[in-house]
Amino acid sequence: MYGNDFSPPDEVSSGALLDQVEAAEAELRAAAARARAQAGDAEPQDHFESVIAADQKIEPRDWMPEDYRRSLVRQIAQHAHSEIIGMQPEGNWITRAPSLKRKAILLAKVQDEAGHGLYLYAAAETLGVDREELVELLLNGRQKYSSIFNYPTLTWADVGAIGWLVDGAAIVNQVPLCRCSYGPYARAMIRVCKEESFHQRQGYEILHTLAHGTPGQRAMAQDAVDRWWYPSLAMFGPPDADSTHSAKSMAWKIKRFSNDDLRQRFVDMCVQQAEALGLRIPDPDLRWNDERQAYDYTQPDYDELMRVIKGDGPCNRQRMEHRRRAHADGAWVREAAAAYAAKRAERAQREEPVAA
Ligand SMILES: [Fe+2]
Ligand SMILES: [Fe+2]
Repeated sequence: MYGNDFSPPDEVSSGALLDQVEAAEAELRAAAARARAQAGDAEPQDHFESVIAADQKIEPRDWMPEDYRRSLVRQIAQHAHSEIIGMQPEGNWITRAPSLKRKAILLAKVQDEAGHGLYLYAAAETLGVDREELVELLLNGRQKYSSIFNYPTLTWADVGAIGWLVDGAAIVNQVPLCRCSYGPYARAMIRVCKEESFHQRQGYEILHTLAHGTPGQRAMAQDAVDRWWYPSLAMFGPPDADSTHSAKSMAWKIKRFSNDDLRQRFVDMCVQQAEALGLRIPDPDLRWNDERQAYDYTQPDYDELMRVIKGDGPCNRQRMEHRRRAHADGAWVREAAAAYAAKRAERAQREEPVAA
C-alpha cells in the first residue's frame, strides 16, 4: 500500500512521505553535528581523541586515523583467520572422539570457532575491507594466524589440553578486548568470550576425566599438558620489550594490558586449576613469589615462536594446504550462494511495484 504513495498521480501523499525522509535525514545530520559539538571541536582528529579519552566507542561512521584503521584491520583479520585455521587441530579428532556425547560436544565447539571467524570477518568489513580480500591475504601467506594452531594433536587428551590451555589463553587475551575502543570489535568479543568459556570448561572436563581414569589415561593427559603448556604461553606474543605493535595499540585503547601482564595472569590462573586436575605444569621453576604476589615461571622459547610464525612450525604447511584445498572445494558453494542472492535481488526488484 505504501508503495502507491510514491507513484503519481497521488503526489500529495508522495510528497508527505518524502518530506518525512528528508526530515529524518536532517535529524541524522543534526545528531552528528551535536556529537561533534559535544566533543568540543569540529576537528575530526580532536573528536577521535576525545572519544578515546572518554572510554567511549569509535563506530564505523566516525572519522579515524588511517593508522588506527589499518591496525584494527590487521588485528581483527588475523584473529578471524586464527578462528578458522583453529578448527583444524581439533577437527582432526571429530571422527575419533571416544563417545557419541564427546563427538557432539566437539562438533559444536569446532562449529563455534567457525562462527567466531564469521563475526570477526564481519567486524573487519565495517572498516571498509572485503572478506574475500582478507581470505586471499591469508591464502597467499601475507596475513598470519595464531602460531598455536601449527602444533599437532597427537592424542585425544590434546583436545582436552587445547580446551583448557589454548581456549583459556584466548579468554585471558580476549576479555580485555570486550572493552576495546572500536565498537564492532568490542561487541563481537563479548559474544565470542561467552562461548570461549564453554570451550575452556569442556577441555578441563576432558582432562579431569582422563586424570582420574586409568594410569594410561592419566599419562596421556599429562603428556598433552607437557606439550601444550609452553606454546600456550607463547600465545601472548613476544615479551613487551620486543612487541612492535603494542605501544600504539595501548594508546588507542585497542589493547588494554601488555603481553607480559596477560601471560602472568594466565599462569596465575592455571596453577590452581592444574592442582585441582591433579596434573603437573611442566616448569621446575614455577613458584609463588610473595613479593610480587604472583608466580615466577619459565618463559616460553621465543625463538621457537618466531620460527613458527615465519612458517617453520610442525604443521604450518599442512594447515595452509588444507585451508587452500577447502577454499577451492567450497568454490561451488560460494558461486551458488552468489547466484541465489543475485536472483533474489532481481526478483525483489521486479516484484516491488506489484507488491506495492
Ligand atoms: Fe574461538
Ligand atoms: Fe574456542
